[in-house]
Amino acid sequence: MSRLSGKTALITGAARGIGLEFARTYIAEGARVAIADINIDRAREAAASLGEAAIAVEMDVTQQDSIDAAVAKTIEALGQIDILINNAAIFSAAPLTEISRTDFDNVFAINVSGVLFTMQAVAKHMIERGAGGKIINMASQAGRRGEPLVATYCASKAAVISLTQSAGLNLIEYHINVNAIAPGVVDGEHWDGVDAFFAKYENKPLGQKRKEVGEAVPYGRMGVAGDLTGMAVFLASEESDYIVAQTYNVDGGQWMS
Ligand SMILES: NC(=O)c1ccc[n+]([C@@H]2O[C@H](COP(=O)([O-])OP(=O)(O)OC[C@H]3O[C@@H](n4cnc5c(N)ncnc54)[C@H](O)[C@@H]3O)[C@@H](O)[C@H]2O)c1
Repeated sequence: MSRLSGKTALITGAARGIGLEFARTYIAEGARVAIADINIDRAREAAASLGEAAIAVEMDVTQQDSIDAAVAKTIEALGQIDILINNAAIFSAAPLTEISRTDFDNVFAINVSGVLFTMQAVAKHMIERGAGGKIINMASQAGRRGEPLVATYCASKAAVISLTQSAGLNLIEYHINVNAIAPGVVDGEHWDGVDAFFAKYENKPLGQKRKEVGEAVPYGRMGVAGDLTGMAVFLASEESDYIVAQTYNVDGGQWMS
């Protein structure tokens, strides 16, 4: 089964975690993939582990020059971009009274402006090429509702859902589908950081929050990156051509909408 045969994808933040698993799966489905990440050493390692269908691209989604260079490098190396996954993001947590302006600006620069301006750069290329395309934004269950200690990250992911709606409606006339995936809790290195935030602010031993969130998932465990790949392939394939501006929960039953 090769549902992405001949396609090329740019995946931001793909040096590890969910983005890396998406890259692996896309390659197994016949695509070639640019592993774009601010951590270029890790991106190179990841690309090398995936073989000839992967290239590593240095990209900081907070810098317009870096976005433009990464898009240009991907087009030069792979010929075109058929699929973009806006996956790069950071997590942050603090009580409302302790949120710093610097941290808020940093989270929004990566999680929100990064998504918007990477969509913009890739959409320009897709429109010029005239062959349509698929854009998938990584939202979160955190974008569906607030959480007491997570105002900034929750707001950033709500913004991703909103950007997906507006961009989806704007770009469908060019046959560019923009949709999003809202995962629940997905185990991986990302959760080392999340767990540490809750250890600090909820006075829990390290590992405790991870255990609690897993137990709270209706499916019975935390997600793993592989739980999301089916949706990521579907939204990149022609099977989803009639799906526009949607955000899909892939979260073991955590949220209904
Ligand atoms: N893991 C979860 O529980 C979970 C839940 C819901 C949503 N998500 C979302 O899924 C996506 C992937 O999550 P993950 O768990 O794999 O995260 P992760 O932290 O493991 O990976 C994020 C990657 O983004 C890169 N990155 C950070 N800043 C960057 C920048 N300025 N420019 C380019 N790259 C940058 C990092 O180097 C890293 O490789 C994120 O959007 C995240 O918010 C994750």
